Amino acid sequence: MARVVAVGSGKGGVGKSVVVAGLASVLARAGARVVAADLDVGGPNLAALFGLFDRATGIQDFLDRRIRRLEEALLPVAPRLAVLGGTGQRLASAHLSFQAKRRLLRALRGLDAEIVLFDVGAGCGRDALDFFAAAELGILVATPEPPSILDAFRFLKLAVLRMESRRFHARDPRRREIERVDLATLAELRERVGEPVRDGGRGPVRPPLAVELLANRATGGEPTLLRLRQTARRFLGVPLPLLGAIPDDPSVPRSVRSFLPVTEFEPRSPAAVALAAVGHLLGGRLRRADLGAPPPSPALSA
Ligand SMILES: Nc1ncnc2c1ncn2[C@@H]1O[C@H](COP(=O)(O)OP(=O)(O)O)[C@@H](O)[C@H]1O
Ligand SMILES: [Mg+2]
Repeated sequence: MARVVAVGSGKGGVGKSVVVAGLASVLARAGARVVAADLDVGGPNLAALFGLFDRATGIQDFLDRRIRRLEEALLPVAPRLAVLGGTGQRLASAHLSFQAKRRLLRALRGLDAEIVLFDVGAGCGRDALDFFAAAELGILVATPEPPSILDAFRFLKLAVLRMESRRFHARDPRRREIERVDLATLAELRERVGEPVRDGGRGPVRPPLAVELLANRATGGEPTLLRLRQTARRFLGVPLPLLGAIPDDPSVPRSVRSFLPVTEFEPRSPAAVALAAVGHLLGGRLRRADLGAPPPSPALSA
């Protein structure tokens, strides 16, 4: 079974795909068999970062049952590294049915790879939240700019709420309750559904997913990023450790225009060096299996 790491952000254009491409190539170079999967249902473009365009097979072919096994859609781009192109340009693919998503997630986890990286789409739609929550580790990408911080927080909050709601059956009134109200804290939510927290809700609540922050175009010490981490812990009860920081670097747009991950295009550039450090950290932890992740999410086993 592959280890699944999802990269999400809420806001678009903050660097998710650049991060996925960079980490995937670093991990593959370090010896792991990696798949970078484009799960941006609204705007798939991960394959383009590797110079692959439109016509290539992808997740859509699997969803449409044109291919039987997801493996058949893998596009090899480097030794041990394959890309899985996204959904097509049809209205029907703008939103996935529950069954389609479940089938896809099963296939993704069953891929013959050691690590599968999810490039989760922008926005806070159900598909994005479910793909993020289905991973054993979520990497939240944010830049220090306030719109990115706000979207990252909203995304994290809704992912937590979605996971909490999915613990209950679709017809269970508690699920409706969670979906309806705007809850301030995770503790408050647990109280509402009749699972009071021992200390009156002020103490830490076991969060439903493990998430780490990856600061992009940043040093990581910016006040807005610090506030995001504090707010996540205080209100959602979700610790948000800093996984790393990728500096703003003109070699990134250059690499994008050259259809290569920045780690391949200019491996000595500051962004590539930072991505390599994050990749090695992540690779080591995946090997040792110490992600501090909670048991597999209900979103996945459902
Ligand atoms: N660290 C960085 N330094 C400079 N430019 C960056 C950096 N990260 C991303 N970018 C720019 O932002 C653009 C959008 O990044 P992308 O990964 O496509 O965002 P997302 O997938 O979140 O929508 C890239 O094409 C690149 O030019
Ligand atoms: Mg993207």
